[in-house]
Amino acid sequence: MALNPFKPSFGSTPPVLVGRDRELDDFALGLEEGPGSPNRATIFTGARGVGKTIMLSEVSERASGNGWIAADVTAGPGMLEELADLLTARAQELIPKRGRQVTSLSAGGFGLGLAPSDREAIGWRQYMTSLITALNDRGTGVLITIDEVHARVVELRRLAATYQHFVREGLDIAIAMAGLPSAVSALLNDDVLTFLRRAHRVTLEDVALDAVGAALRETISANGRTIAPGDLERASAATLGYPFLIQLVGFHIWRQSPESTAISADDVDTGIQAARRRLGTTVHEASLADLSTVDRTFLIAMAQDTGPSKLSAIAARMSVDRNYASQYRARLIDAGIIEPAGHGHVTFTVPYLREYLRDHAASMGLNTLKLDRPADGLV
Ligand SMILES: Nc1ncnc2c1ncn2[C@@H]1O[C@H](COP(=O)(O)OP(=O)(O)OP(=O)(O)O)[C@@H](O)[C@H]1O
Ligand SMILES: [Mg+2]
Repeated sequence: MALNPFKPSFGSTPPVLVGRDRELDDFALGLEEGPGSPNRATIFTGARGVGKTIMLSEVSERASGNGWIAADVTAGPGMLEELADLLTARAQELIPKRGRQVTSLSAGGFGLGLAPSDREAIGWRQYMTSLITALNDRGTGVLITIDEVHARVVELRRLAATYQHFVREGLDIAIAMAGLPSAVSALLNDDVLTFLRRAHRVTLEDVALDAVGAALRETISANGRTIAPGDLERASAATLGYPFLIQLVGFHIWRQSPESTAISADDVDTGIQAARRRLGTTVHEASLADLSTVDRTFLIAMAQDTGPSKLSAIAARMSVDRNYASQYRARLIDAGIIEPAGHGHVTFTVPYLREYLRDHAASMGLNTLKLDRPADGLV
């Protein structure tokens, strides 16, 4: 019995990375173009589960394959130290050790001896500059990736300032970051982070269904099983092109009868249902937990529509005026939960959130919400 090849968990590399060639090529081009290329500082943003973390892993892996050294961290306290540790460790693997002093670095021909203990003496920025210079002198570029830049930390500001210094010095360095749209817009409004404002911003979207179908088929057959064309089509359609659902649907249709070679029509139907339930308990619960009660009421008002919702209709259902509703509209767009859908309309970014809200409005306690004038029929 083949192991289930699908990876429905955050940060896990999928068996096939669907529909991201253009973004990956753009970033790779930035590395080739040399210091000063606008793509050398890139921020990936997008809804939860769209594949931001995976993009960082992928750019990091590809850069490493092309002779770069990459250090991957998540924004948070201790991030700068971790970056220095990771780069030091990678540099040590690359630069031959001198005698028995395994912790010292030496840049061939340039006489730069640098030990981790120097970090305290010369300061973080100088240490990093020396380390990166030593690597660059050996023809090795340095890529830094930072995930979850929405965790607004002092370190991020410090790194931003230092990165500008690296760029001015002409160092061969690149940075790729990822975060939810809210975080990124907050950061972009922060004067200190000028370089982030100039960074190339890449919004990751859902992927095309034919690419999803091809990826599901390839993964299933590469792992010794089969699926009929009609079933494959239903499975792909059920993902709505949302990357996390590609893994969830694949995983659940696979696990229905893993001992048989053929994935049956029943496996697909049951698997799709199971995938949607899992989506609710992972992505939807987590997204809603971060929101205020009024944010959630706004979403429940939206969930009454079958397609994009008109702001004026949402305001009416909430019994609030349009201005008030538009503040919540802006907050929810920033949080990456909804997006503009033209002509005063908004829609959900993550699939099946509408259905989830309809099913769970009561259990979220929102039916007892005290609004000034409770809207008829709301929740
Ligand atoms: N392009 C893709 N093709 C197929 N599967 C993908 C793709 N991108 C991501 N996935 C899968 O989707 C899931 C979520 O990916 P990831 O953890 O990168 O999301 P994220 O955007 O970082 O989410 P969050 O905002 O919660 O951090 C993982 O299971 C991953 O394997
Ligand atoms: Mg992530």
